[in-house]
Amino acid sequence: MSRSHGDDRPAGVPAVGAGPRGVRTATGDDVAAVVSVGHRTWRATFEPIAGCDYVEMGLAKWWTSDVVVESIRLGRTLVLERDGVVVGMAAYGLRDDVLLLWKLYVLPEHQGTGVGSALLEAVVQRAADLGRSRISLSHLAANEQAGRFYARHGFVRTGVEPGGSYIPDSVWVARHLSRADGPETGAIAETEEQP
Ligand SMILES: CC(C)(COP(=O)(O)OP(=O)(O)OC[C@H]1O[C@@H](n2cnc3c(N)ncnc32)[C@H](O)[C@@H]1OP(=O)(O)O)[C@@H](O)C(=O)NCCC(=O)NCCS
Repeated sequence: MSRSHGDDRPAGVPAVGAGPRGVRTATGDDVAAVVSVGHRTWRATFEPIAGCDYVEMGLAKWWTSDVVVESIRLGRTLVLERDGVVVGMAAYGLRDDVLLLWKLYVLPEHQGTGVGSALLEAVVQRAADLGRSRISLSHLAANEQAGRFYARHGFVRTGVEPGGSYIPDSVWVARHLSRADGPETGAIAETEEQP
């Protein structure tokens, strides 16, 4: 497929605007908005269930401009805009035949309005386009809202990753692309990585 001059998307990354229901691949212009979605949503979600120390650690480790830029540069961040404002984002990594969904965050005032489902649908499409057989992710065990959300979207539990000091336990879940509701075998806690 030929590309226009200046299009530096990595191979296999669809064009901006190509995703379902308004989801598009993030560009360099989205860095500040993506960081803001992360910071606002992390504080609202995790301070009550995991505490301020965990939130400060996570923001410093995973929500700096440098970390966000790198995922965007690789074409692995998706965003959804409403009225010209980025209200949700997803970011993933790739390992073997697995798409690892590292981040899925929707601004608190837009939660429950279909943004997360649209982003997840786009991630599933992306994984299929990239020939991956499985999507895997972890969420804090105490994050019951996320657990219900992923279960409704066909994810099944594959393992538990114990936390430490002020890091809470996490639950790993996965969804097979060919057999969305098929049970996962084994219970392997996957190692922590980040985009
Ligand atoms: C989990 C999350 C990504 C889901 O995205 P979302 O846009 O809220 O989800 P949707 O609106 O697409 O669908 C959510 C479903 O849960 C319900 N729901 C989820 N969060 C809700 C909320 N805050 N208020 C009301 N309903 C909510 C919806 O009714 C809907 O149910 P249905 O599918 O049976 O109709 C989002 O709520 C979020 O960012 N939460 C905080 C951060 C987080 O936990 N991220 C995941 C970390 S692994």
